[in-house]
Amino acid sequence: MNLRNITSIAIVSITVLLLNSCSSDPNSPGLEYMPDMYRSPAIEPYVDYGEIRGRENKEVKMLLSAKTPPMGTIPYYGTDEQEVSLMLPYARKANTSFELSHGMFGAELTDVDEYTLAAADMNPLKLTADNSEAIFAEGKELFMNNCSHCHGAKGDGNGPMMENGSFAGVPDYANLKELSDGQLFYSIYYGKGAMGAHRSIINKKEIWTIVHQIRSIQNPDYGKFDSTTTMATEVIVDSIPVEVEIEEHH
Ligand code: HEC
Repeated sequence: MNLRNITSIAIVSITVLLLNSCSSDPNSPGLEYMPDMYRSPAIEPYVDYGEIRGRENKEVKMLLSAKTPPMGTIPYYGTDEQEVSLMLPYARKANTSFELSHGMFGAELTDVDEYTLAAADMNPLKLTADNSEAIFAEGKELFMNNCSHCHGAKGDGNGPMMENGSFAGVPDYANLKELSDGQLFYSIYYGKGAMGAHRSIINKKEIWTIVHQIRSIQNPDYGKFDSTTTMATEVIVDSIPVEVEIEEHH
C-alpha cells in the first residue's frame, strides 16, 4: 500500500464518520463517541434510573431513588421568609434524661434545663385578623388527629385513651395556663413524662399552630379579632398597625 492509498482511505473514513455522526432529529446529539464524558453518572435523588432513554435497567428498577434526608436538614418550603424560618432546626436541645425514654435519635442532648429556658421563646407564627381563622381551623384538625385521643377533644385530659383505662396522668389544659408558648412547644416537640415526642410526627409550623389551638381551648377569647380592637386578649401581635395601638391607649 502506498501513501496515496492510505491518505484516500483515511479521507473516506473520516468523511463517512463525520456524515454519520449527524442526525436529522433536532433533539438528538447524533452519534456520541464517549457518552460517559458528557452524560453525568451523578445520582440524582428523584430520578428513576430504572429506565433511561428507552433502555430498561432491571437491577435498579423499583428501587428507592429518593434517599432519606440526613438529620437536621431543612425541608424546602418555598421562598416565604416566615415559612422558611419556621422550618429551621429547633435551637433548644433535648435533655440527656430524654435519650432512652423519648427516642431522641439524632437529637443533640444537654444537661442544661432547656425546658425552663424555653419559657422565653415566643410563638413565631403570629396571629393576625387575616390568618387567625385558618390557623385555628388547621390547629383544630391537627389537635384532633394527634392529641385528642389522650387529651380529649376539649383538652380536659379525658380522651378515649384515658376513658378506656389504657393511659393515665393526662393533664387538663385549664391547669397549664402558667406554661409559656415556648414550654408548650418544647414539651410537644420532645415529649414530657409519659407523653412521647412529636418532633417526627408533626413539623414545627404545625406544633406552633397547635400551641395557638391550646391557647384558644384555655381561653375562648384568645385570638378573636373585631373591628375596634385588633385582638380581645392581651396577646401581642406583630402586625397590629401602630396607630391602632396608640388610639387604644388614649
Ligand atoms: C399518648 C397520650 C398523649 C398524646 C398522644 C399526647 N399527649 Fe400531651 N400529655 C400526655 C401526658 C401523659 C402528659 C403529662 C406529662 C407529664 O407532665 O408528665 C401530657 C402533657 C402535655 C402538655 C403539658 C406539658 C408540660 O410542659 O407540662 C402539653 C402542652 C401537651 N401534653 C400537649 C400535647 C399535644 C399538643 C399533643 C398532640 C400533638 C399531645 N400532647 C399528645 C399524653 C399525651
